[in-house]
Amino acid sequence: MSSLVIKLFFPLFLSLSMICLSSCIPRDDLDRRFTSEEEALGQFQLWQKEYGREYDNLKEEAKRFEIFKENLKYIRETNARRESPFDYSLGLNEFADLSREEFSKIFTPDMGPIPKDNMNLNDDDDNDSCPNAPASIDWRKKGAVTKVKNQGYCGSCWAFGSIGAMEGINAIVKGKPSVSLSAQELVDCDKDCYGCRGGWHNRAFEYAINNGGIAKEADYLYTAQDGTCKASTIKRKAVTLSGYKNVTSYSEKSLYCAVSRQPVTVGLNSMDFQFYQDGIYDGENCTRYNVTHISHAVLIVGYDTVAGHDYWIVKNSWGESWGMKGYIFIKRNTDNKNGVCLINCCGSYPTKEAVKPENYYSSI
Ligand SMILES: *[C@@H]1O[C@H](CO)[C@@H](O)[C@H](O)[C@H]1NC(C)=O
Ligand SMILES: *[C@@H]1O[C@H](CO)[C@@H](O)[C@H](O)[C@H]1NC(C)=O
Ligand SMILES: *[C@@H]1O[C@H](CO)[C@@H](O)[C@H](O)[C@H]1NC(C)=O
Ligand SMILES: *[C@@H]1O[C@H](CO)[C@@H](O)[C@H](O)[C@H]1NC(C)=O
Repeated sequence: MSSLVIKLFFPLFLSLSMICLSSCIPRDDLDRRFTSEEEALGQFQLWQKEYGREYDNLKEEAKRFEIFKENLKYIRETNARRESPFDYSLGLNEFADLSREEFSKIFTPDMGPIPKDNMNLNDDDDNDSCPNAPASIDWRKKGAVTKVKNQGYCGSCWAFGSIGAMEGINAIVKGKPSVSLSAQELVDCDKDCYGCRGGWHNRAFEYAINNGGIAKEADYLYTAQDGTCKASTIKRKAVTLSGYKNVTSYSEKSLYCAVSRQPVTVGLNSMDFQFYQDGIYDGENCTRYNVTHISHAVLIVGYDTVAGHDYWIVKNSWGESWGMKGYIFIKRNTDNKNGVCLINCCGSYPTKEAVKPENYYSSI
């Protein structure tokens, strides 16, 4: 998936605190449309306090306030368009003083068009009907998902997205709760990828397959920076894989079948993820702008339906203060075969020994 390369990465000059406290900004305030200068300033100060954000000088502070004000306006306007309680809403999170351009450079850069050659069509999955798949599944409840991570200011979404799937299959096959694996090993050692400047999740699986597995997070800690590879100094490989598969591109049925068996890594366009707070994200702008580019990798950990609205349960790697404790619900079964923001484009998942179909749902 050559499109998953992050071309640009600028270290930010801001000193950013990743401390997440529970929101002290009442939600009703964010649904109000009108924002006076004074009120915006009050919100900015509250927000700075909540996120421990300080700036080097007044000029920088004034600049950040202007951006914050724009963002607040956008959040309020978007929220005001909500039609049902299931529609997604946006909120002031730790990214509230970053302009869309700054945010995109780091977290959602344009990584080029989706691959023309398509992912390899996978005949097994092509007509996969998974008749025994449950109507809803949440791998978190089955102990197959580790806690939400924070990639920080490093374009390593590909590493976090893929270790999530490795953690999942390992837990399912072993029948034991999942253990966090090392994203840093991939960042430092996977020479087919570009560390903090991006990579491809299928290549991350290839790295793990070809290198006898991957270390535990605890043995190879995350630094959010490119570093030299220390894999050879770490004896214990926590997880080994047998192989990996691509989900048939643009087949939502195949994606559904795959997720019914294990957590799956997908690429997508993360437009409008910056301020996502809760609800079912429908990617209206991806549709409006006919998005054809992938900018992010995430892990689908389940699917469900609420009041007739079908959605994927998706784990992100932007910390627990983003979205719903780090998660986003993304609408499924839309009319669009690409899925919301291309989520049906490029899923892949690692395999480990043979998990027999009849054991998929009872093995853990
Ligand atoms: C998965 O898709 C990628 C991108 O098209 C391709 O390079 C890779 O060989 C495929 N892997 C498998 C196991 O089919
Ligand atoms: C999958 O289904 C299509 C259409 O029903 C059929 O043409 C194709 O041969 C099937 N593929 C496999 C691998 O069974
Ligand atoms: C979404 O679309 C609206 C309307 O065109 C636009 O104002 C807004 O900036 C878009 N959001 C993003 C994240 O591009
Ligand atoms: C998106 O695609 C539709 C259908 O192909 C087209 O009518 C529309 O003009 C396109 N919108 C943009 C913004 O390119």
